[in-house]
Amino acid sequence: VARRDTSKSQLQRRQPRRGSPAASPVTGRTKILGIFGDPVDHSSSPAMHNAALRALGLDYVYVAFHVRPDQLATAVAAIRALDLAGINVTVPHKQEVARHLDSIGEEARRTGAVNTITNRDGTLHGDNTDVAGFAAALREAGARVRGRRVVVIGAGGAARAALVALGALDAGQVVLVNRTGERAAQLARDLGSWVAIEPASLADLRSPALLGDAALVVNTTSLGLHGERFPALAASRSPHDCVFFDMVYGRHTDFLRRARAAQRTAVDGSAMLLHQGARAFRLWTKRAAPLAVMRAVLELRKSSIDKARDRR
Ligand SMILES: NC(=O)c1ccc[n+]([C@@H]2O[C@H](COP(=O)([O-])OP(=O)(O)OC[C@H]3O[C@@H](n4cnc5c(N)ncnc54)[C@H](OP(=O)(O)O)[C@@H]3O)[C@@H](O)[C@H]2O)c1
Repeated sequence: VARRDTSKSQLQRRQPRRGSPAASPVTGRTKILGIFGDPVDHSSSPAMHNAALRALGLDYVYVAFHVRPDQLATAVAAIRALDLAGINVTVPHKQEVARHLDSIGEEARRTGAVNTITNRDGTLHGDNTDVAGFAAALREAGARVRGRRVVVIGAGGAARAALVALGALDAGQVVLVNRTGERAAQLARDLGSWVAIEPASLADLRSPALLGDAALVVNTTSLGLHGERFPALAASRSPHDCVFFDMVYGRHTDFLRRARAAQRTAVDGSAMLLHQGARAFRLWTKRAAPLAVMRAVLELRKSSIDKARDRR
């Protein structure tokens, strides 16, 4: 019978060196980060954050928690009870979670949504890093929106983050296109003093005038997530420097295909995911996020998502 070698030297051999990309052992001191969502098993955040934590040799682990809406209050109480260090919040909890927290930051208040909770010695603080993540992704894409017209499609939580960022970037006017008109009208009432908003319908996307002087067209709907077709839009009538930005993750969505067919810049949601994650990472660990490591993880996952979408 082979004896298990539990010698000290063998255990030491199993310990990854500081900064090593190998998996770190979980110990009694390991701090826990994670994400609450329903569903949550598709999330790229665990892979992205764990790679970043390992790259910096930080003693944390990031876990996905499937939290159903009727369990949200209990799950937030568990952050305190279990002393979890930080939590990301995704669909469908971003709006509801705010009322269970002790304080929220300026962008979370303005958007009415929280995507990052930081546990400060038992006090739970909520932030919205989607706003800064979107703005950073726009900068990377070379979109120049100051004083110009922007078309935002969708009126849910992601659209709120986009509108708050566009107001901060001094966009001239936002045309807000949504399937359910009343939801766009409500958003215009909520954020109209922050950025000028003109509601429009999905059918208006076909009108050449709508995109005629747009600097940016953003899809904030979930259309494309499961390979859905996107409504017709007059992409070729937009200015040549117009950027088409899809918050859905992956290069092969119908929205981005149309932008590329019109030879316009087409950007998917991975840069926003990267930058919102980098800001959350900094809030939790007080360390600058290793962007290159995180980006490499997302690129790998994106390739498999694109292949799966192409097979549909
Ligand atoms: N890349 C990132 O970092 C990032 C960050 C945040 C969100 N996102 C993505 O953004 C998307 C939206 O998230 P959310 O939180 O805003 O969701 P949400 O609050 O549920 O809003 C969904 C939006 O999509 C529209 N929609 C859904 N199905 C549609 C359909 N068949 N036809 C037309 N419109 C449809 C809805 O229109 P109605 O109002 O008419 O229902 C609504 O405007 C998701 O795919 C999410 O993954 C990405």
